[in-house]
Amino acid sequence: MKGLKILGTGRCLPDKVVTNDDMRAFVDTSDEWIRTRTGIQTRHFCAEGESTASLGVKAARLALERAGISPEDLGACVGCTCSADSAAPTVASTIQRDLGLPKHIPYFDLNAGCSGFLYGLHVTRGLLLQSDKPYALLVGAETLSRVMNFQDRGTCVIFGDGAGAVVVKLEEEAPYAYTLGAEGGDDVIYIGGYGSKEPYIHMEGQKTFRFAVEMVPWCIHELLGQSGLKLEDIDWFVLHQANKRIIDHVAKKLGMPGERFYQNIAHYGNTSAASIPIALDEMAEQGLLKRGQKLLCVGFGAGLTWGGALLEW
Ligand code: UT7
Repeated sequence: MKGLKILGTGRCLPDKVVTNDDMRAFVDTSDEWIRTRTGIQTRHFCAEGESTASLGVKAARLALERAGISPEDLGACVGCTCSADSAAPTVASTIQRDLGLPKHIPYFDLNAGCSGFLYGLHVTRGLLLQSDKPYALLVGAETLSRVMNFQDRGTCVIFGDGAGAVVVKLEEEAPYAYTLGAEGGDDVIYIGGYGSKEPYIHMEGQKTFRFAVEMVPWCIHELLGQSGLKLEDIDWFVLHQANKRIIDHVAKKLGMPGERFYQNIAHYGNTSAASIPIALDEMAEQGLLKRGQKLLCVGFGAGLTWGGALLEW
């Protein structure tokens, strides 16, 4: 089974850093509550002139440079977002234009909430299996500050803006396993779309928390079962960064050391579909990833959706 190997990564966070104390200008909250309940210390918010697409373009440029491939060898470009600037143009087609990428390949966005990057990986693999080109560009980009209700303390302190990108290669020897799913409905997480009277994120935090701590270990066991690997064979678990307590809980439930679960939620909050590619880029920058390592990525969130993939670095 052909798998996906990550060749290069990039990220872009807006310059504006917002601390927990800064959030007190909007809602009745405290640094202590936010840190202890979520692990978040700061998040980045877009300034005027920045957009989901502009963050995505910058992350994509870096990922392409670091992968060292010729853009002519790209077989697809997929944007993953639940906070696109507009219904059209898409993040992916803006990336095509701004980076001057080849025209005759598919460019589109997909929305699977915070699981978007995982859905994107599997779709990308499918596209590459049908393509005569070996590489694809996958970008998670969000400006959640633009769809946040700054009067709702249960959500506005949690989310942040940012983008992460990866260039992947379809490779014969790379391991691959995936799981995707949804249990639909708007009663747990709802994000008002274009023209909505309530264009904001609504979230039932505790229900989402319970969903996450049940689904993430399930996804991990599913991926291990498919691939015949054991927990110990996985070098890194890279989970959607929604809450430090969720990641700690999952590590404990699996009986794995917390250090194998990368965490950066302290700095960025929850950046939805961008959180896993941002984490991968940081891990690469810090020299944590070594060629040939196996990564298990799992996302979960709005939909409700979940997704997991076994990848190679
Ligand atoms: O990316 C999509 C997936 N999303 C997630 O995975 C999110 C999962 N859920 C969570 O991370 C947590 O449920 C939250 C961080 C959202 C909330 O934490 P919680 O421990 O579940 O808090 P809660 O909603 O049960 O609220 C507890 C109390 C309430 O006060 P009372 O009713 O007990 O007096 C809230 O009003 O905390 C209050 N509260 C706050 N207090 C200070 C809620 N938000 C805040 C706040 N500052 N920002």
